[in-house]
Amino acid sequence: MRLNVNGADHELDLDPRTSLLDALREHLELTGTKKGCDHGQCGACTILVNGRRINSCLTLAIMHEGDAITTIEGLGAPGHLHPMQESFLHHDGYQCGYCTPGQIVSAVGMLGEAKENWPSHVSDALDGKVELSDAEISERMSGNICRCSAYPNIVDAIRSANGKGAA
Ligand code: FES
Ligand code: FES
Repeated sequence: MRLNVNGADHELDLDPRTSLLDALREHLELTGTKKGCDHGQCGACTILVNGRRINSCLTLAIMHEGDAITTIEGLGAPGHLHPMQESFLHHDGYQCGYCTPGQIVSAVGMLGEAKENWPSHVSDALDGKVELSDAEISERMSGNICRCSAYPNIVDAIRSANGKGAA
């Protein structure tokens, strides 16, 4: 099968039961995407598929032929960091860093959703413009768990990156 990851096509010979997360980490050696729980509960494995964030542990690689997959490696790299990566650095949005790739990818996806005015559980209305309050940011990032509890700085980093071309 063929996977398009960070703009490049890769031919892979995979067991059809291989998760997208394992295809990225074990077969393409893109280890930026982390495996935390492997059960859809921690968000460490968050990637973008066609611009939307998903947990890559909960889907099979074979279901994503033809999709545009973006991992943390595709957002930026040393020397040309994505604005969200810069912001996490600047605001000290991590401690051990294990959750960080998932947090950053999720934050980029979340800003895109807010820009399209998708409501969240804490939005006042189901339609209308979404203002990214701290409560909105926290709710929209609630699928990404940080065992070090860097949450206040993560919210600061996302708030600051919002509007700087980070979506
Ligand atoms: S490893 Fe996928 S959600 Fe935890
Ligand atoms: S920085 Fe350690 S788990 Fe988030």
